[in-house]
Amino acid sequence: MSIKTATLNGVATIEIARPEKKNAITLAMYQAMADAITAAVADPAVRALLIVGQPGIFTSGNDIEDFMRQPVDGLESPAFLFMKALLACEKPVVAAVTGAAIGIGTTMLLHCDFVYVSDEARLAMPFTSLGLVPEFGSSLVVPQLMGNVRAAEKILLGDPFSGAEAVECGIANAVLPAGEVALYARRVAERFNALPPGAVQESKRLLRRARAPAVLQAIGIEGEAFARRLRSPEAHEAFSAFFQKRKPDFSKF
Ligand code: COA
Repeated sequence: MSIKTATLNGVATIEIARPEKKNAITLAMYQAMADAITAAVADPAVRALLIVGQPGIFTSGNDIEDFMRQPVDGLESPAFLFMKALLACEKPVVAAVTGAAIGIGTTMLLHCDFVYVSDEARLAMPFTSLGLVPEFGSSLVVPQLMGNVRAAEKILLGDPFSGAEAVECGIANAVLPAGEVALYARRVAERFNALPPGAVQESKRLLRRARAPAVLQAIGIEGEAFARRLRSPEAHEAFSAFFQKRKPDFSKF
């Protein structure tokens, strides 16, 4: 299992731990993350959740081999179950972005409450270069956060961006030295031990109330397009090129 979970001092930690594959997330890992969120919400000892990666890598996104083998199957896919659990999570979620955050690695940050990024972090949503489209509400939330023209750079061109830019456009709270980001994020999560959980959870619901219906609608529309694009010849060329360690050739499309 490449997801490690632990609860300590009121904080449920979900650690993505598959460094040999740059923390690429498999179907089993999404399921484990969804289950961990559900368990943390049900556990009265947990006041906040913390999502962390490994030194130098938060996650390289969805496992591309899984994309080729088992294209997502709509609303019951483990990736969807994970994002659904994250969106529904009543308790505060803190992310410590320990390095590169690619694809869903960036998308999931849009739905966390606090995001701390290391000074080595690079965020990217390279969906088009994989023959895909944005996912899990990013087509709605990213332009809202950074405006249309910067969203076009990040989503249509897939340009990576730094932790400092993520802070500037409101995706992240702060940039920290790489060796400090996980501990800092833990300290923020632990602050909820001193706050009344009912007020925190109701306030989180209120903060998300206005946007939630639009996000859910976007997820449905994006999900249909994403599933269709996963089966496209463009995506097949992109995935094959990744594993053959060559540049994809989109000239024939
Ligand atoms: N899915 C499956 N395997 C992945 C992966 C992914 N998303 N990302 C990395 N890996 C694997 C590589 O295939 C390689 O496996 P191998 O050792 O068996 O050849 C291993 O992890 C190490 O990756 P490598 O590319 O050699 O590391 P790097 O340090 O040169 O580059 C990244 C790191 C993250 C920049 C690069 O791996 C990358 O671009 N990954 C894909 C990112 C992506 O497009 N994600 C999907 C978004 S929807």
